[in-house]
Amino acid sequence: MEIEQLQETANNLIKESVSYIVTNTAELEQFRIHFLGSKGEVRKIFGFMKDIAPSDKKEAGLILNTVKKQIETHYNKLQEQLSKKENSTSTYDVTLPSLGNSIGAKHPLRIVENEIIRIFEGLGFHVAEGPEIEDDWHNFTSLNMGINHTARDMQDTFYIHQNPDWLLRTHTSSVQARMLSKGELPIRILCPGRVYRNETISARAHCFFHQIEGLYVDKNVSFAQLKQSLYVFVQELFDDNIKVRFRPSYFPFTEPSAEMDISCTVCKGSGCSLCKHTGWVEILGCGMVHPNVLKNFEIDPEEYSGFAFGMGIERITQIKYSIDDLRLYSQNDMRFLKQFQVSI
Ligand code: PHE
Repeated sequence: MEIEQLQETANNLIKESVSYIVTNTAELEQFRIHFLGSKGEVRKIFGFMKDIAPSDKKEAGLILNTVKKQIETHYNKLQEQLSKKENSTSTYDVTLPSLGNSIGAKHPLRIVENEIIRIFEGLGFHVAEGPEIEDDWHNFTSLNMGINHTARDMQDTFYIHQNPDWLLRTHTSSVQARMLSKGELPIRILCPGRVYRNETISARAHCFFHQIEGLYVDKNVSFAQLKQSLYVFVQELFDDNIKVRFRPSYFPFTEPSAEMDISCTVCKGSGCSLCKHTGWVEILGCGMVHPNVLKNFEIDPEEYSGFAFGMGIERITQIKYSIDDLRLYSQNDMRFLKQFQVSI
């Protein structure tokens, strides 16, 4: 090896070593092993001595000793810096009182969702979940909403890459469709989850919200059972004195369909802004599963019947906690969220 080559290798090694910074003792030890260890870089470069011409050996010795010294000096420097840093932590006064921890809070939507799930689990329902990105079949077509069905306009849909087959689910009925396609009956499920609709964000609407939908399919399921289940549900969620009423409505996937109102929990019927001075607030849509939907999943509507219902969790939470602006749920304002802290 030429002496110039050795000099260059030596310079590079020094450059590499001084660029090292260590933040803890493990990294310092890594540095030592890499450069100064028995199989380290310094050892390696000393190994080149045997390839140097005898006339250059003296100069090579000088170069090699310089490398070793410089790297050792840098190692000592790093060691000193580290111990200074470690000692500086001892200036903390461990006897000072702590600042205290604040207890986190569950999001109000989660509190209400859990409560709804708890009630329906008591009625024999099980939670089922599905994807937020859906295909047309599960979100629309299988639910009796064919391509040209006008009811699609009821739910302004976000399509993915403008592909008509892929979309953000507009309701969690899509999960019911997925569960029905498994072909296991009877079925009694509850589908909570986030849904998306292309709406302008305001105090009353948002482009995403949360739903819980329920589905019960078995032999001899009746509208009376649907009404009774929902009645028990609102009594548990609000209070025993709550009144309910069912208004005829329309959903493509249920027939007959209804919307359920409860007596206003804020003004108890005397009139307020929540119930728009009617004494009633709408909380959910429901109905008997349409025979076409059952047929789409190869279930015989002569043999089986079912009921379904769906509600917005934001809406129920708004009624339960008198929240007047939907945007509060997603603004992460600590003043709002802290109000839902529970004491433990
Ligand atoms: N899927 C309906 C919606 O999102 C709600 C609903 C579910 C209505 C089940 C009836 C039965 O508006």
